[in-house]
Amino acid sequence: MMTLNRPVAPLARLAIGSRAMLSTASYSPLESGPGMSMPPGFDTKKAQLTRLSPSSPKAPSRVSSLGKTMPPGFKAHVAELGTFVLPDRVTGSVGDRALGKALVDAWRRDGIIQFAMSEHQRKLWADAYAASRRFFKKPHAEKAACVDSQSYAGYIASGEEVTDGIADYSEIFTITKDLDMAEPRVRAKWPCHGPCPWPDIEMKEPMERYNENLGAEGEKLLQLTELGLGVEPGSLTKYTRDGWHHTRVLRFPPRNATNGKGKEGRGIGSHTDYGLFVIAAQDDVGGLFIRRPHEEEKFANWEKSAAGLKEDADDWYYVPPVDGVHTVILGDMMQYLTRNYLTATPHKVGLNTKERFAYAYFHEPSFQAVLKPLEGGCGGMMQDKSERAANGIHYGTHFTNMFMRNYPDRITTKRLVAEDRYRLLEQPELRTMN
Ligand SMILES: [Fe+2]
Repeated sequence: MMTLNRPVAPLARLAIGSRAMLSTASYSPLESGPGMSMPPGFDTKKAQLTRLSPSSPKAPSRVSSLGKTMPPGFKAHVAELGTFVLPDRVTGSVGDRALGKALVDAWRRDGIIQFAMSEHQRKLWADAYAASRRFFKKPHAEKAACVDSQSYAGYIASGEEVTDGIADYSEIFTITKDLDMAEPRVRAKWPCHGPCPWPDIEMKEPMERYNENLGAEGEKLLQLTELGLGVEPGSLTKYTRDGWHHTRVLRFPPRNATNGKGKEGRGIGSHTDYGLFVIAAQDDVGGLFIRRPHEEEKFANWEKSAAGLKEDADDWYYVPPVDGVHTVILGDMMQYLTRNYLTATPHKVGLNTKERFAYAYFHEPSFQAVLKPLEGGCGGMMQDKSERAANGIHYGTHFTNMFMRNYPDRITTKRLVAEDRYRLLEQPELRTMN
């Protein structure tokens, strides 16, 4: 039997619930204290909530109801996450240190954390969600016109993005740094730099407000992560000055109303995200699955694509929608910086019986940042003394590679290639932070 139930440190503002860790259908967590054994009659190997009889008196009620939203056709454990509460400001206090350590421990154990939205954030998410619904309802031609030849911001139709050779059904509006044509980096034709082709002000304003708030939240999380890793303050935040933060506003069609370009029931295939971390909000439909960190799964997506990894394995965790929370998963650059102490979280999306909306904010290094593995801390993980580590990873090149690979036919990629913009990535001014 897996031993997920361990008591967590008694921190003042750690979690609203008593536990900040994954649980599965086979435990009876809420009614019982941590460490209780599995109820009789439950089998961890068959821990699929949808198979539990709703009338079973042994069925843990809240876990069962969390699992009810799992998309049909998927076998997975159900993640029951404790909810962290972040402070208004990170000062480096004893409480901040303990919280940072708890966050790092939770990511290492579960691959994901969940934190409470403030009242203000609930409103920001509600407005962004409404704007997203409004946008995706527009006629295809109107949405498809929202593209830009210089930036990768704008519309991506269902079936346009490919993961591990199979079309994804996600319909996306990507928001990157919105730079007008007079901006020096745009005039100098830096790859990926350009305007965001907003459809209208009704979309632009709520998204910008929400992103600005999430940017501040992202900085707080980075400061807490530094404390939790035991590295010098500023070791991570020095990279996010003028960070290349961006957002994927997502809609998933119901599983019975797709255009047939992808695989039945699959919204997005298994992959890791490429940056530091992703703060996400989702509506109440459900579709996100993640994998917990596995000792034997030390892949480096920035060297070799990890897309499709273990997509059909049976030890995925379903992340059920919980009202009023953000979730945070880690990306490739966090794994690289922490010398594999924290690892990028593989995730995938299943299609449900209803359409689903989600919002993924990517908190990222500056486009110009050259990342080098952190010194010290990180649980004493070995320092990489190779020449490659000494050279570091240029985030702008990493980002450009990812988007060119994902969208080979987009006008942005075609213009980038036609104008030979890619070679600019080698220039010193694109590799020096301001
Ligand atoms: Fe992702």
